[in-house]
Amino acid sequence: MSEYTFLRGPADWWRQAVVYQIYPRSFADVNGDGIGDFAGIIDRIPYLASLGIDAVWLSPFYPSDLADGGYDVADYRNVDPRIGTLAEFDSMIQELHKNGIRLFVDIVPNHSSDQHEWFQAALTAGRGSAERERYIFREGKGENGELPPSNLVSHFGPEGWTRVEDGQWYMHLFAKEQPDFNWANQEIRDDFLKTLRFWSDRGVDGYRVDVAHALIKDLEGELPDRDSYALEVMMGDGTDKLFDRDEVHDIYKTWRKVFNEYDPPRVAVAEAWVHAHRRPAYASAEGLGQSFNFDLLVQPWNAQKFKETVTYNLAAAEREGSSTTWVLSNHDNIRHATKYGMPDNLNLHDWQHNGAKSQLPKIDLVKGANRARAAVMFELALPGSTYFYQGEELGLHEVFDIPADQMQDPQWFRSGGTKFTRDGCRVPLPWTSAGSSFGFGPGGAHLPQPSWFGEYSVERAEGDVDSTLHLYRKALKLRKTLLTIEKYEWVRTWNRNVLHFKRPNGWHCITNFGSKPVKLPKGEVVLSSAPLVGGKLPADASAWVIAK
Ligand code: NOJ
Repeated sequence: MSEYTFLRGPADWWRQAVVYQIYPRSFADVNGDGIGDFAGIIDRIPYLASLGIDAVWLSPFYPSDLADGGYDVADYRNVDPRIGTLAEFDSMIQELHKNGIRLFVDIVPNHSSDQHEWFQAALTAGRGSAERERYIFREGKGENGELPPSNLVSHFGPEGWTRVEDGQWYMHLFAKEQPDFNWANQEIRDDFLKTLRFWSDRGVDGYRVDVAHALIKDLEGELPDRDSYALEVMMGDGTDKLFDRDEVHDIYKTWRKVFNEYDPPRVAVAEAWVHAHRRPAYASAEGLGQSFNFDLLVQPWNAQKFKETVTYNLAAAEREGSSTTWVLSNHDNIRHATKYGMPDNLNLHDWQHNGAKSQLPKIDLVKGANRARAAVMFELALPGSTYFYQGEELGLHEVFDIPADQMQDPQWFRSGGTKFTRDGCRVPLPWTSAGSSFGFGPGGAHLPQPSWFGEYSVERAEGDVDSTLHLYRKALKLRKTLLTIEKYEWVRTWNRNVLHFKRPNGWHCITNFGSKPVKLPKGEVVLSSAPLVGGKLPADASAWVIAK
């Protein structure tokens, strides 16, 4: 680990860490079954090390029927045999650590897979059994219980209740293959502590906690109805029946005790889509410690929106004593290089969630790519930690033409194609410019790669000094030398389309969201996302300047 990670002591390595998300089934495949594996990750550790990242976050690699890309976990303390073995997991973590890279794994506590032995046991044990008490089983309404216990939609589309053979219904906020656990049951609580110890004992450094805000539900009396999961309909005071209830933090306090049994303490980041003022509780030092802020990810390319996002989140992080997170892409969202090339006036959220069946908006790939390069320099210069999503370092674009019969995402199927498919950002990575599945593996790819993928391959990027890959490497290398205490200050620009901030050691970041080149402050330009034009910063570009 480099010196800067110890600015506030070794236990704080995560505060300004750069974390690279691997979606294991789409990263690199060695055994040729078309699904990425641990052997593939081990093979690519030199590549990961060459990026200069601090940690890797692995999306779920556990045994799963893949009803939701692995977020339907059948066994929390094991590995999907298509991905590898526990022994390979151990080799992988050892190799990562040898290369100075820490490891986060994904924990999915809200629901299991319907293939989990507990759910299978609940089905056979029948109503009233201790086995059913591990999940949320209820009688239906109507004369013969033929109607669901409440009018609950699921996240991905229709019903949030499914009826089993003996007539009872179980709750699932996501796909029907993802039954929700009953966290009022102590057995569930104990089992997750066991899981956390299991992976922590194997050397895991941190956890990304899936739907961290949904574990506790108020199921007394009338069961909750819900026809939308938009944040606007979620209560913001801890009284929502399904989400973000205050009692959820009692669980994370017990998790924190486990994390603190280790040296350095294990860390965690909550995926909690809650009202912004409710995030600090998840990031508390007695709880998970950090909570994702996805605010940049949902913003359009707009200087004032970026500024508001940064100002709000850094002030909040300072108040709460945590560090914030910057995220531009992940496995649930359209790749940002593509998003930034879409028309500026498009309501992207609406298109993604209600209109995916309609015509694809016009995309300017070059503009998108330039803005993506500028955006990564912007976020890397800020205090806080940064989460990359595999492939963004290649400037990779979203794949929009996956044939419906090859799609995998339950969000697409369950919404009848109204919501966009997340498969488009999960297509296996291109490593070579040609050849079998562009170097992903010898046996094809589990999602079809388009013919243009080779142009975005690692091989192609390695050979081009101006590639996005080289920009990421240069930026991360420089960042290590420049990183400083977690302070920043806006510098007035007199131009609403230009953002300029500085760090206490004289490191300035200037980003031009406008259409005309702008002057840079005096100093040495140590990096720019696009060539300067007559000494000026062009449109859709960022520069780092060290003040003289
Ligand atoms: C959030 C994950 O990021 C997403 O991929 C998944 O579908 C849901 N949680 C359900 O686990």
